[in-house]
Amino acid sequence: MKAAPGIQVKVTLNGPYEVTGKVPLRIETIGANIHKESVKWIPGKTFEPKEQPFYLCRCGHSKNKPFCDNTHLKIDFEGTETAGHTTYVEEAELLEGPNMLLTDVQHLCAFARFCDPNGQVWNMVNDTDDPAVKAQFIKQVGECPSGRLVSWDRATQTPIEPELKPAIGIIEDPAKDTSGPLWLQGGIEVLDAEGVPYEIRNRVTLCRCGASANKPFCDGSHASMGFKDHIAP
Ligand code: FES
Repeated sequence: MKAAPGIQVKVTLNGPYEVTGKVPLRIETIGANIHKESVKWIPGKTFEPKEQPFYLCRCGHSKNKPFCDNTHLKIDFEGTETAGHTTYVEEAELLEGPNMLLTDVQHLCAFARFCDPNGQVWNMVNDTDDPAVKAQFIKQVGECPSGRLVSWDRATQTPIEPELKPAIGIIEDPAKDTSGPLWLQGGIEVLDAEGVPYEIRNRVTLCRCGASANKPFCDGSHASMGFKDHIAP
């Protein structure tokens, strides 16, 4: 896809994300049903950066989250990027249903769990000749913030992506009592610390807890470590 014009996120060496451009920055909370299943995104409080570029915490220890306060220097943050530059499609596993396809890159999982309701999307794909199942399948796959999961029209072999305007979400997950990654929406370009661009995708999640083994991307480690950003809702 095309890059969102005028917006860029640069990973800095053992430091924060440097964000250039005017881009909405807001809390995005995972809304759950009574069974604690993820069912909707709830946009919340917005933040107005005071300067350009602005810097978002990547080490997980700033006292001024979501912004950087240079704590990474005090804690000697080790933020070496371990993700490669292979493309999503090169890495994806393919599951084929009668009407839809599902691709999956497991190590991009941000543990938002929109894939789980209604018997899980990996099973639902097998019933996508049923229009109701197909519609629900597309919705759940499209709500995956990291873009780990992508649904494809089988006949045309084209991906079906949700329409997302460029924005940066700060994910909160009250059902798991944890805070999640930064959610880059709408094709925001990410450059590694050497200035090499990662593949531009519609949905990307960037680690902000400091613990991912797939930096700069989230790998769900925030959940196992119980990361909390303590940002007032
Ligand atoms: S925020 Fe998800 S692994 Fe760090």
